[in-house]
Amino acid sequence: MTFDYKVADITLAEAGRHQIRLAEHEMPGLMSLRAEFGPTQPLKGARIAGSLHMTVQTAVLIETLTALGAEVRWASCNIFSTQDEAAAAVVVGNGTVEDPQGVPVFAWKGETLEEYWWTAEQILTWPGADSNPDLGPNMILDDGGDATMLVHKGAEFEALGTVPAAADDESEEGRVFLEVLRASLQADPQKWTRIGSRLLGVTEETTTGVHRLYQLAEQGKLLFPAINVNDSVTKSKFDNKYGIRHSLPDGINRATDVLMGGKIAVVCGYGDVGKGAAEAFRGQGSRVIVTEIDPICALQAAMDGYQVAKLESVLSEGHIFITTTGNKDVILAEHMAAMRDKAIVGNIGHFDNEIDMAGLARIPGIRKVEIKPQVHEWVLDEGTDRERSIIVLSEGRLLNLGNATGHPSFVMSNSFANQTIAQIELFTKSSQPEGEREYGNQVYVLPKILDEKVARLHLDALGVELTELSKEQAAYLDLDVAGPYKPEHYRY
Ligand code: NAI
Repeated sequence: MTFDYKVADITLAEAGRHQIRLAEHEMPGLMSLRAEFGPTQPLKGARIAGSLHMTVQTAVLIETLTALGAEVRWASCNIFSTQDEAAAAVVVGNGTVEDPQGVPVFAWKGETLEEYWWTAEQILTWPGADSNPDLGPNMILDDGGDATMLVHKGAEFEALGTVPAAADDESEEGRVFLEVLRASLQADPQKWTRIGSRLLGVTEETTTGVHRLYQLAEQGKLLFPAINVNDSVTKSKFDNKYGIRHSLPDGINRATDVLMGGKIAVVCGYGDVGKGAAEAFRGQGSRVIVTEIDPICALQAAMDGYQVAKLESVLSEGHIFITTTGNKDVILAEHMAAMRDKAIVGNIGHFDNEIDMAGLARIPGIRKVEIKPQVHEWVLDEGTDRERSIIVLSEGRLLNLGNATGHPSFVMSNSFANQTIAQIELFTKSSQPEGEREYGNQVYVLPKILDEKVARLHLDALGVELTELSKEQAAYLDLDVAGPYKPEHYRY
């Protein structure tokens, strides 16, 4: 079997396979789903275009999807987040470096923006699909919504017959994206409309991607049904919080090895990710200051014992500044210019627009020094008595994946068990003729009983003894002994 793929170095496959083998041991949710659904192959016929950080944990997800019958093509959803050995191992699969038998992966650490959008296009462009609808992708598995956006914007511009010129304030990323669509419209004016019409659904991993989906649904523009995986409790209350609690200090350590104890860490945003970040810093002995725009989250931070302040009030105090908001323009160039010497600045929100990197580069006289890949020192007022520098991690992109390897396997097993169940749910319930399908072009969350199932799959590995409701207790609480145990509005 030959297939197209592009990874940094296919000979890294063996190193990747060792890590995947260890990760499987730490991913009981995914391995139980393989055991449960392997025999019935519920994803047979699913052709999944996956856009999600190409890490070791994602390799276990990909091989779970194929073990359940799916065909898959994969790219990373961030230019720095691929673990090259994991990408190589997934391509090789059960084959050899000379004769790979695995999955077409298009991902390597350190892609340019042009390369990034090329990889996104590759996962949606299946060989032979132009003329044969049975060969194109019918499902997307997305993280951050870029693959979904490519299809939607592509179809929108095809309907217009043109791709609009970039606005004056368009980011470099936005310009490259428009260029890619312009080229594809010229080459094949129906490409994205055709791909969009064949897609049965998308399952979305993260807060930012989910936000984009709800916007599309509200405007009536969503082209296919979507499952919001992020808001499964066993995703956002675990991955976003406990995953970050692990992978944020991992990224800071690998990038700088600076002692966090005794330092002042400023965490912008106190949602799920911010809560994990603040707890990580506190665990290391940092003094944590939180910034928030939402009074509920600000009050939560205060009740949890953190100082809550405006960023402007603490610029000269902080040693480390981390954005976790999913919002744009949170740390501006003028903020960075007012920080103390060697302050560390990083982002763990999905996109790089939380930190104004373009504005930083425009500060007159500023000089960028590469300490090592994904760690840069920006020197200000060089040669004057005010000379100082700040350290920016992963060029403002999510540092836990750029400077480290993202969340650990056990927590990702929860997130990816939700992803797998969501793919099965959407794919198997979309086989009816259009119009009779259970899911319309809206955004759905998985039923609570499945959320509880994902948690249940992880209890044994931690030696958790779960108390069982008696029939009388269940009747008293008006519950089924087997769950679900909480109403939909319960917040955990
Ligand atoms: P969330 O919505 O729970 O939290 C974001 C918080 O930021 C909210 O409480 C909001 O009020 C606050 N906020 C918004 N603008 C702000 C501003 N200007 N200043 C201060 N606070 C502000 O979202 P969640 O789940 O915590 O996710 C945050 C981001 O992290 C998203 O982009 C998400 O996609 C991403 N994410 C990244 C992960 C990673 O591995 N790096 C893992 C999971 C999520």
